[in-house]
Formats: sequence, C-alpha cells, structure tokens
Amino acid sequence: MKLERLPPIKSSLRPSNHPYLTGAWTPLHEEVNAWDLEVIEGKIPADIDGVYLRNTENQVHQPLGRHHPFDADSMIHQISFENGRASYRNRFVRTRCFEAEQIAGESLWGGLADPWGTSKRPGFGAHGGLKDNASTDIVVHGGKALATFYQCGEAYTLDPETLEQSGVAPWAPLDGVSAHTKVDERTGDLLFFNYSTHAPYMHYGVVDRTGKVTNYTPIPLPGPRLPHDMAFSENYSILNDLPVFWDAELLERNIHAVRVHDLPSRFGVLPRYGKAEDVRWFEAAPTYILHFLNAYEEGDELIMDGYFQENPTPKPLKTAPEGYEHMMAYLDEASFRPRLHRWRFNLKTGATVEQRLDNRDLEFGMINQRIAGRKYRYIYSTTSKPGWFLLNGFVKHDLDTGQSQQLTLPEGRYASGIPVRAARERQGRG
Ligand SMILES: [Fe+2]
Repeated sequence: MKLERLPPIKSSLRPSNHPYLTGAWTPLHEEVNAWDLEVIEGKIPADIDGVYLRNTENQVHQPLGRHHPFDADSMIHQISFENGRASYRNRFVRTRCFEAEQIAGESLWGGLADPWGTSKRPGFGAHGGLKDNASTDIVVHGGKALATFYQCGEAYTLDPETLEQSGVAPWAPLDGVSAHTKVDERTGDLLFFNYSTHAPYMHYGVVDRTGKVTNYTPIPLPGPRLPHDMAFSENYSILNDLPVFWDAELLERNIHAVRVHDLPSRFGVLPRYGKAEDVRWFEAAPTYILHFLNAYEEGDELIMDGYFQENPTPKPLKTAPEGYEHMMAYLDEASFRPRLHRWRFNLKTGATVEQRLDNRDLEFGMINQRIAGRKYRYIYSTTSKPGWFLLNGFVKHDLDTGQSQQLTLPEGRYASGIPVRAARERQGRG
C-alpha cells in the first residue's frame, strides 16, 4: 500500500468521555490518499468498477456546548475499485463553516442539543442556529457528488473520483436543500425538498442532469415541520407532513422542542413536474419516518416502503451515561423502534392501506438505485446495537418470496448507513 498524508487540519478538540466522541465515534482528523490497498481476505472482483462514497461526522473543535453527533463536520470517505484493485481517499468537506472555524481555530456554532444563542455566528437551515456541516448524506448527480445537511444547507459538490471540491451547488435555493435528495438514474433527474419555519414551510424541486432547475414549487403546510426524507416513483414524488415537529409556542421563543401532535401522518403526492395545486394528500397512521426505501406504481396504487417509528419520542434512556439520557434515546433504534412498513396510496379512491413488513428494529436501508422508482425485489436494511447509534448488521429482504436473511457483524465492528456507490460510465469518457 502507498500512503500520502495531506497537511493536517487545525483542531481544538480535547479528550472527553462523551459517548459520541469516543469508541467507534472517535473523530478522525487525518486526510490521506492511499493506493494499492492490501486485500486481507479473498479477491476484489475485477468487474467492480466505480467508487463507494460515505459521508461521516467528525467533530473538529471543542464544542461550545453539549455535543450532538449530528453537529460534526462532514468527512467523505471514498474507496475506488478498478481492475481488481482498490484505492482510498478521505476529505473534510470545505463548507463555509468548516473554513470559518479553521480560520478561528475554534467552534463558532453551537449544536442541536444547545440552547438558542450558543452560536457566535448566525446559523443555517430550518433550525437557524446551526452550522451547515453537509454531513448527513451524499449522492452522485450529473457527474458530481453532492453532500447535504438534514436541516437544509447549501449542498456542497465534489468530484466523486478525486474528491476535489467545487463549492456549493449553483442551483441550491435560499431555503437550502435537505439531505436525502433522490437521484433517478433512469432520467438523470435529482429530486429535492427543503423546509423552514416560514410559510409555505416546504418546497420541492427537480434538477436535471445538466444542473438546470426544471421544477421548484411551494408545498404549503399548516406550519413548520421536520421532514427528513422523501420518496419517488417513475411519475410521482411523495413528500410528508408527519405529526412529530417542534412545539409551536416554544418555537416562538427559539426553543426547539420536538413533540408528537394529535394529528395523522399526511403524504403529499404530486407529479414529478407538478405544482402546489397538483398535490394530493393521503392520510395514514401517526408516526415519524427517518428514511424511505422506494416507491412504485402498480395499477391504481402508488406503493411506498420505509421505516415506521413505533415510538418517535422515546423516554430518556436509563442505561445512558449521566447527562446523555435524552440524546441517546433519540439515537437508539431500540427506543424509537423503526419497522419496515408499506403504505399503499390508491390514486383513484384516495384511500391509504398500510402493511407491516417486518417486526424487527430496522433502518438505514439501501436498494439498487438503478431501479429506484420502479417495482423492486430486494431491500438491504441495517440492524443496530441496542442503546447506540451503531449499525451492527444487515437484513436482506426478498419482497417476492417474503424471506429474509440476517447477518450480524462481529463485536466491535460497525457498518455504515446509506452509503452511495457510483459506477463509472466508460462510454463517452474517451
Ligand atoms: Fe438520514
């Protein structure tokens, strides 16, 4: 293996016993390029030709307040496969906030668990007080990797092969782009949404493979909401208005307290290039959903799969270290209990039928993105270590047979949720 280390970044982080700054969550600060990776076991199949990308959270500076793992800066890890060989590189995403904190040599923004006013600079996104760290998600669209932030950030672009950075996506609107943009690999469209605390509270958009915005429309909601993901089929996009959102009275005083409200879940279905007046709302059982897997059309129905949370606002986790009980409950799948679930929206009658597909705690799933939006067969979900946001295995579902297989990783080894793979397109590359 050949290794090249990049000049070190500035860090002011001090050792601590924070459960999400130690163990498997210990931040990594080193940036490297490595070639000819050693194969420990077996052989890399020669026909794997492309890159694997993973967006991770690595705290660089001493937190101003109580660190939450979602506050940390984005580091992209890439493994590139070609001719049976693999190379690796990793880079921090040079967001405006990362660069500002490098210059300052300290944290300038507080985090999700901190009171309003902790930040030393104006914040970004729906919350308004946070650092846009671009660390939630990564996709490849129009030949560029796009790193995004769950509270709606500027969306940062990188070359998926070299990880060379090319700044914010020029098409990103003022209200930002939420994590979990969707790429329809069949058409080259990227679908996105954003949300905010000002009316109309949500927008939805489509960007074609050349980076041109071909649709951007308000999705009026009754108030500020906290959507995390969306779904799409060949012809429709599905947005959500779930009854788990900030307490409106407290929000006026800039206190971001999440509550379950006595409301149904609502799913807004509109044609891909539709406008606000085209949205049809379908009601379903109240829940919160972090991630969807896929959606497709069949006869009069639009079928959508995702993870239904049985207990979206869990009680403090008793087994957590003192002071971390609330934070750790919200990061613990055994507490919020996400279950593989199917929603069937009848486009003729407006009725919703729901179906539980599995009763294990599963989340952070992946499908073959080449068939996203169409009828599919396999789902790859992850399992997690009880009490922890640590993914300790996989469950593969065969939707045709109803069978599933489970694989648990050896103790102390953890998987990544929702990485992205991008196959190289040899044709046209010369
Ligand atoms: Fe997510």
